[in-house]
Amino acid sequence: MTAPAIDLHPALPTLPGLVRPERDLWKPRELRELTSTVAADLATPLLGLLRFTEPKRWWTRLALTDGVELWLLSWLPGQRTAPHDHGGASGSFTVLLGEVAESYRYPAGPVREQRHVTGASIGFGAGRAHQVRNESRERAATVHAYSPPLVPTREYVSLSDIPAEIP
Ligand SMILES: [Fe+2]
Repeated sequence: MTAPAIDLHPALPTLPGLVRPERDLWKPRELRELTSTVAADLATPLLGLLRFTEPKRWWTRLALTDGVELWLLSWLPGQRTAPHDHGGASGSFTVLLGEVAESYRYPAGPVREQRHVTGASIGFGAGRAHQVRNESRERAATVHAYSPPLVPTREYVSLSDIPAEIP
């Protein structure tokens, strides 16, 4: 019997209990609890890790297990993602610092807008596609989780280009 594969950021020694290496697939609600707990309990070391770069946004992987990947991302004012889906993975994010704006869409649904302030969390299933950006004048940072891990995202020119069924 082999131990579950796990890769952890060296600055965060308390992560193993939170990312539960024995767990395979995580549900959106569980991913949301994970990013919410990590952002709350590890705020000080995460803020110490943060970097801000341009033009390319900065990010670092916090953990990778067989079931989940966990990331810390930073957003200077004006920085944004392209519209994208998560390749069939479920996901979540929690705002660690500042605030981010999100345009999102479920297949065949309208494009909706949401603002996420410090401490806010969402979890989502494979059907949700979105674009995230920092529209504020302050720096922002977010903690993201995806399950299954290592699934490539797919980018679109516009959220209205997203197919009715996400393969
Ligand atoms: Fe995303």
